[in-house]
Amino acid sequence: MCGIVGLTGSVGERIGLVLRRCLERLEYRGYDSAGVAVVNGGVITVRKGRGKISEVDARVNFTGLNGVSGIGHTRWATHGKPSDENAHPHTDCSGTVAVVHNGIISNYRELREQLEARGHRFTSDTDTEVIAHLFEDYVKARLTALEALREVVSRLRGTYAIALLYAGEPDKVFFARNVSPLIIGLGNGFNFLASDIPAFLEYTNRVITLHDGEYGFITPGSVYVERGGEPVDVKARVRVVNWSPELASKEGYPHFMLKEIHEQPRALRDTWAGLDTDQLSKLSDLLLKARRVFITGSGTSYHAGLVFDHLLSGLMGLDTHAFNSSEYKRYVKLAGDGDVMVAVSQSGETIDTLMAVRVFRRLGVRVIAVSNIVDSTIPRESDYQLYTRAGPEVGVAATKTFTAQLMVLNALAATAALGGGVLGKDEYGLIMGELEHLPDLVNLTITSVEAKARHIASRLASKASAYYLSRGLGLPIAMEGALKLKEVAYIHAEAYPAGESKHGPIALVEGGFPVLFIATDDEYVDALEGNVMEMNARGALTIGVIPAKHQPRFGKLLSEVIQTPNVSPGALTILQSIPLQLLAYYTAVLRGHDPDKPRNLAKTVTVE
Ligand code: AGP
Repeated sequence: MCGIVGLTGSVGERIGLVLRRCLERLEYRGYDSAGVAVVNGGVITVRKGRGKISEVDARVNFTGLNGVSGIGHTRWATHGKPSDENAHPHTDCSGTVAVVHNGIISNYRELREQLEARGHRFTSDTDTEVIAHLFEDYVKARLTALEALREVVSRLRGTYAIALLYAGEPDKVFFARNVSPLIIGLGNGFNFLASDIPAFLEYTNRVITLHDGEYGFITPGSVYVERGGEPVDVKARVRVVNWSPELASKEGYPHFMLKEIHEQPRALRDTWAGLDTDQLSKLSDLLLKARRVFITGSGTSYHAGLVFDHLLSGLMGLDTHAFNSSEYKRYVKLAGDGDVMVAVSQSGETIDTLMAVRVFRRLGVRVIAVSNIVDSTIPRESDYQLYTRAGPEVGVAATKTFTAQLMVLNALAATAALGGGVLGKDEYGLIMGELEHLPDLVNLTITSVEAKARHIASRLASKASAYYLSRGLGLPIAMEGALKLKEVAYIHAEAYPAGESKHGPIALVEGGFPVLFIATDDEYVDALEGNVMEMNARGALTIGVIPAKHQPRFGKLLSEVIQTPNVSPGALTILQSIPLQLLAYYTAVLRGHDPDKPRNLAKTVTVE
């Protein structure tokens, strides 16, 4: 995730200053590099670099730039590490085109090869740079800028919000959108483009939200939008937003946690688009050849690691050891050459996980890091990197980064299962196809379960304790659900294998005690049904997160049911996480707590 802005016309202040102010409002979308390009007198000037907006500006002074039109970017690295070269805007060979981009161009390698074969010289490792060179190619072939844009859009695959300057038409900022958000801000004598409304809210509150597949340009006095070569009339889409700047940075959501729960379809789509099948095959070979596989992480990341552990050992029979990273010392004597460690950390900076990585690497273990932050310490110190593309997570409670980790780890496990002969080509194709289309099902799940989650939260809000029970692959999801309730709603919650509940925990259960059941694995459903009946017999408030196919048998048994679509168990771990996140969120709010800043917690734990 990155933040982009574009401005054409005058708001009465120097354009460099206005663009910096807009970018600062988008810094929550990424902050590892920043840059601005303006066009003045038919010449494009670019100033950019690695670091936060204020640091880059102090070095290169982009607030000093003046011009007719300009674009700006604050980056969250996806392709290419944070560096001066990889910072946006990117330019073509002749310096007459500058572009900023949010999203992932999934076919950039192929486009880059074609462009390099035609003599284009690239100066960055980003996927974005292909856009500038493609545009250059088309205008050199005597297409108008709009025609060139049309052709460029037809060549791009993946997700993008783009703002582009062309020196030949200095009063225009060109744009295109597919999946990544892009909004037009309408002014008098100026128009804005931005990833998010707060960027320009200080200057105008009249907005048009662009839709997927739309592209066009803004001038100081007009907006032109097209889709598939046909003009689109967007007049009816103009709306006035009356948000406070605080609410605006959350896109109208009352909390970042809720916004980030709702962002999961996009986060998963970007994560999927960023996966490289060659790399997955290489890493799955490594896992298949390993003597042992250690899997580690803390908190939510540990729970994602447990799902992976279950897939590798339970389904494939690999010799795995999963542990909380703070407990790594217990496994040191087992570790050596020929072993592989998978270290999961959204921030890439958690000290416990970093210590485990350092110690195990010194022992000859090869480490695969799974992280959301490109070039953070854990991936940097690891042998291999697998990145999620969830974008920055502001809420302390991990939500979108967790489901993005599950997506990456499910894809890696499926690739290993194919390589190990546990899955045939067709089964593998079905699982990967399901993961690819999961963002739509996640969207559907959010829409269909939110009201129910709010209702169940009203029954949970007055309770002191809750159990989360499951069996098999659902157990880590139960653990994650319990962690969410604890950390944001401050309700004591424990997860157990449902079978274990009879070996002690059930002693606490009396009338109205909440027990949540997560039914994930078909092979455990009969036993789970028995556990529901045991809890019902003691008057528990039984709540189930159940795939639709098991609704007939569980529907009548449970006090409350949250239904999810039917998918295979690995993908179900992602769908079932959503109602549990929403439940924790709404319970926290009903109890009067701020879910974004739970007491005593930090987003990243950097002390042992
Ligand atoms: C989850 O909601 C918590 N914020 C916490 O458990 C977190 O997952 C843990 O601290 C690990 O962080 P990491 O993924 O950045 O390593």
